[in-house]
Amino acid sequence: MGNERKWTQLWLKYDRRQKEYDADLGRVNVSGFGEDTVEKKVLESALKEWKRGFEGYTGKSVTEDTAAEEAGLRILKDASVPAEGYVIEVTDPSHVVVKASEAKGVLYGIFALLRAMGLEQELSEAAGSFSPSNPLRMLNHWDNMSGDIERGYSGNSFFFKDGEILVGDRTRDYARFISSVGINAIVINNVNVKQQATWLITDRYFDKVSELSRILEEYGVKLFLSLNYAACMEIGGLDSADPMDPKVIAWWKERMKEVFARIPNLGGFLVKADSEGRPGPFTYGRTQADGANMLADIVKEYDALIIWRCFVYNCQQDWRDLKTDRARAGYDNFKPMDGDYHENVILQIKNGPMDFQIREPVSPLLGGLTKTNQMLEVQIAQEYTGHQIDVCYLIPMFKEVLDFKTYCAPENDTVADVVSGRAFGNKNAGMAAVCNTGDDENWTGNDLAAANLYGFGRLAFDMELTSEAIAEEWAGLTFENKSEVKKTVVTILLPSRKVYEKYTSPLGIGWMVRPHDHYGCSVDGYEYDRWGTYHRADHLGIGVDRSHNGTGYALQYHQPNADMYDDPETCPEELLLFFHHVSYDKVLKSGKTLIQHIYDSHFEGYDEAVALRDQWKSLEGQIENRCYENVAERFERQLYNAREWKDQVNSYFFRKSGIPDEKNREIY
Ligand code: GCU
Repeated sequence: MGNERKWTQLWLKYDRRQKEYDADLGRVNVSGFGEDTVEKKVLESALKEWKRGFEGYTGKSVTEDTAAEEAGLRILKDASVPAEGYVIEVTDPSHVVVKASEAKGVLYGIFALLRAMGLEQELSEAAGSFSPSNPLRMLNHWDNMSGDIERGYSGNSFFFKDGEILVGDRTRDYARFISSVGINAIVINNVNVKQQATWLITDRYFDKVSELSRILEEYGVKLFLSLNYAACMEIGGLDSADPMDPKVIAWWKERMKEVFARIPNLGGFLVKADSEGRPGPFTYGRTQADGANMLADIVKEYDALIIWRCFVYNCQQDWRDLKTDRARAGYDNFKPMDGDYHENVILQIKNGPMDFQIREPVSPLLGGLTKTNQMLEVQIAQEYTGHQIDVCYLIPMFKEVLDFKTYCAPENDTVADVVSGRAFGNKNAGMAAVCNTGDDENWTGNDLAAANLYGFGRLAFDMELTSEAIAEEWAGLTFENKSEVKKTVVTILLPSRKVYEKYTSPLGIGWMVRPHDHYGCSVDGYEYDRWGTYHRADHLGIGVDRSHNGTGYALQYHQPNADMYDDPETCPEELLLFFHHVSYDKVLKSGKTLIQHIYDSHFEGYDEAVALRDQWKSLEGQIENRCYENVAERFERQLYNAREWKDQVNSYFFRKSGIPDEKNREIY
């Protein structure tokens, strides 16, 4: 591997010995699992991890193949345990049983025991029956084969460098980390598939991709690749990518035959088509369903999936065009074919209708589709949420999305119900996150951003976990468990999303970011651009009318959500400017005018960011210096950013509206 640098062990820090665990647990007996080689490999990973973790935490050694009656840790096959699930039974501190129907369940069970040890709990606290809420728990890497990462804020790729694939110890550690939180699938390459990445499905890369895939397989992680929809033209030499053209179908059949013969553990493909310049079926007058089904039918015999993204919109809009609304596009493009997508197609839908802003309504496609497999896409790469410079713990946002009641059915109708497959009984469903990792020593740029990686995995595995519980787990494992440090870290994480929201764009309007790189404030940066991202501020008010009087977007929801959003009086205030154009002197529920709310929230947001920074400073000398300095330095940049946002937003709206701040604070 070309980049053998140092890297941290994130939350798998097995070098602390604060609590005693019985030495008998080092005597391990495994029984009932068959001869299947993949199962064996996964079991081996589980046992290796137990050895590493138990020995690290206790200083006591682990021996395998102990006779059953002498074993402290017994691992048993039990066909009645649900797929990927595990049962932990603790009879006394020296006797633990882990049961699972497949090796992957054992692996998750072992990680659960190690988690309890890392949190200095009695192992009985880990006892119970567990199985994942979501069938697919996936990370989408936007890594390019050059080595850079689209929207990456943690260094370069650890999968690719200079057109080659990297496989080594870092790959293995990564597989361990993500498996420890229950991730079972990753896409290694960017959704914008260009140049060399188009060739990942050819002989040029099979050997290395296979090597990588085998490592993932040992940790129960399926490999997926992003596909270039026009590969049949770009590397196949055809003159069309029409999904109905027999030549095109024949080309893909041949290609897939070879791909699945050569790459083990391949779960399927992720496709971004007809989106932001990427090719797709629209060019040939075909629908998204035509494109997705063509590929899905071909990969079906390999038990593979086509995950088709719904991020399809007109990115060539004119700012004078008040009719076209980017927010509407997902629903308009995909809803009409609801029911037409084949069984092994999953539509992957971003949480909001725009693009990962700090506050957006839930996409009306989620639950708007009732006859189609769907999965949720969130972004832990902090593209619009502070570039892993600003601290922004995103799990509370994901919880809000999952808890949203779509009214797609009389009951079991939340987004969590829909994407887990519970609502409509689909087995092809789940959650994906655009990943925030890179080859930085600490993996995520800002040490605190690892809470989002950890948290996404844990939440996708168990959607009932609260944001607080996840933050506490992560902080307890990463820092020390019973200490002021953990408390302080959790106190920083929990409000951080609200703080970021306060000093950036107000009440759901979004954008106002610097074009292209999406960090920092530029109120009008996108206003006259072609991307369909407007705030429509004038001297009287601000906001986009998406009610029935405006673009009609609000009506894409099921009732009563449609009515709730349509009416400015019932629209949740945090989304008011997303749905309505509102005058600056409108009085909000707080009793403040809109303009005063804008001023106040920006001053507050900045002050609260300062307070978060001060809390971090109180940790100096109490935690590892590398980590302290990493976050401290980023906090200084966050404060600079927060100040810029506050001053630019406040000055802009003061000058537009001419209405002064009631509290007479400094506005330029
Ligand atoms: C955003 C992001 C792009 C990305 C796109 C996508 O627009 O800025 O870099 O390619 O989302 O999700 O496909």
